[in-house]
Amino acid sequence: MNALAPALTVTRDLLTGTEWSPAVVRELNHLAADIKARPDRYRRALGGRFLALIFEKPSLRTRVTFEVGIQGMGGGAVFLDHTGTRLGARESIGDVARNLERWVHGIVVRTYEQRVLDELAARAAIPVINALSDRFHPCQALADFFTLEERFGGLRGLKLAYVGDGNNVCHSLLVAGARVGAHVRVATPPSYEPDAETVAEARRAARETHGKIELFHAAEEAVAGAQAVYTDVWASMGQEHEAAERAAIFAPYQVNQALMDLAGPDSVFLHCLPAHRGEEVTDAVMDSPRSIVFDQAENRLHVQKAILLMLLS
Ligand code: CP
Ligand code: NVA
Repeated sequence: MNALAPALTVTRDLLTGTEWSPAVVRELNHLAADIKARPDRYRRALGGRFLALIFEKPSLRTRVTFEVGIQGMGGGAVFLDHTGTRLGARESIGDVARNLERWVHGIVVRTYEQRVLDELAARAAIPVINALSDRFHPCQALADFFTLEERFGGLRGLKLAYVGDGNNVCHSLLVAGARVGAHVRVATPPSYEPDAETVAEARRAARETHGKIELFHAAEEAVAGAQAVYTDVWASMGQEHEAAERAAIFAPYQVNQALMDLAGPDSVFLHCLPAHRGEEVTDAVMDSPRSIVFDQAENRLHVQKAILLMLLS
């Protein structure tokens, strides 16, 4: 047991975010705040631990923040580039898991199908962390709510409007938002809503925290009076062939100055990045003083360090 790790019992893996209770998310935010304020205290917290980073999709933020976070706590990261060949093509996912567990202490995975994460976690005796799948991006949403807590001082009842595609980032904002007691309002075009199972799970979790989950089709309705307005790309990694069709469908969901004017006076703008400027968000909003997108990016580092300590200590 690492003396710097929290006392709370957490799950072995972070695959969806639904496995973490509101209490675990609170603990994570406390730990991340301490790591951010006093990084030197954690210089050796992962001493001698190694992680494998398997990425089937490109990344700037997630890769750099995991590598810097692991090395900044005295651990080692081995990056496995699977952007060319899918995991499981050369040898079975189970055999990959049973090799890696002999050498490293955890696996960070960016993949397409959620079942790849499930299979790795089922076969490996070491923690598996979802670094983005088609369905979820838990590290992103946890860092986003940490960022909002820094900004607003609390999360209960905080009104977050997510505008755009009901995708992986949207799902994880619902899951994490429910756990921190936020009011998450999602506006998507018809047929692009978040999946019903995730919405139902978030609504169940929100009952415990007095959070609220609301779905809309009109961006203006979701954004009215919101304290935080969030968007993401209209075509995610793996959907590039749908980009033109989606650009037409999602045009009314662009976050521009007119939409931001409907939000609360103290409202902020968030984006997981990468942004497609001029599509889901205008330059004026991205570069405005209300934009906290680079704070979000910074906090990926501190929050993921906390995630690593919670799972590996
Ligand atoms: N937000 C995010 O996960 O960025 P990357 O795709 O660059 O890792
Ligand atoms: N929804 C985006 C998020 C990128 C961080 C994607 O999956 O491409």
